[in-house]
Amino acid sequence: MAEPRLYFKQMEIGPMQNFTYLIGDSLSREAAVVDAAWDIPAIIRVAEQDGFTITKALVTHYHQDHLGGDFAGFHIQGAAELLEHVKAKVYINKAEAPFLGRLAGLSKSDIVQVESGDTTTVGDITITFLHTPGHTPGSQCFLVEHRLVAGDTLFINSCGRVDLPGSNPEDMYYSLQRLAQLPDETVLYPGHNYADKPSATLAEQKRHNMYLRLSLRNLSDFLAVMG
Ligand SMILES: [Fe+2]
Repeated sequence: MAEPRLYFKQMEIGPMQNFTYLIGDSLSREAAVVDAAWDIPAIIRVAEQDGFTITKALVTHYHQDHLGGDFAGFHIQGAAELLEHVKAKVYINKAEAPFLGRLAGLSKSDIVQVESGDTTTVGDITITFLHTPGHTPGSQCFLVEHRLVAGDTLFINSCGRVDLPGSNPEDMYYSLQRLAQLPDETVLYPGHNYADKPSATLAEQKRHNMYLRLSLRNLSDFLAVMG
């Protein structure tokens, strides 16, 4: 049972109800941060107060509310500001790489490009990368023990938008199908606080999330609903 070693913290941050996560090893006191954006000093402060050092930055996808960057005339803090304060690399899916330097002020040497099935560790805690394209070409989820950090791929009772530049509804269908194959006891931790609760089991989502249910039926029904 590795669970007692896992440090897992969900924080709602910023005006778009984003969730940032800290995933760490309670013995080694190292932590990875998922989607560090909006208020980097606050995120670092939470890690420090809990006794952790951030050593890795994981990014679910390149949208500025998750990664930081310039958006509609505003600057959103993100990975670039994080790297001013902590020594870490930024882990992104390789399909997302073309978008990063331009949007977020990161240089090539800051970035580790990963593929589906790759893993990384913080202390003795293993995090597995799952490529789940659809919302963006390189959207990815993170699996740690029985928890799924899903970014904007899967929300509680809904899924990510597929009408944005770079979105692909058919890719989303297959990504949701893959997530639906995970064990029922897996707990979904989404990228935004859009529901009446912050997490839910996949067992429950397979019953109540229309998009997950449709992904288990057929592609044409799914595409019809997604417009
Ligand atoms: Fe997004």
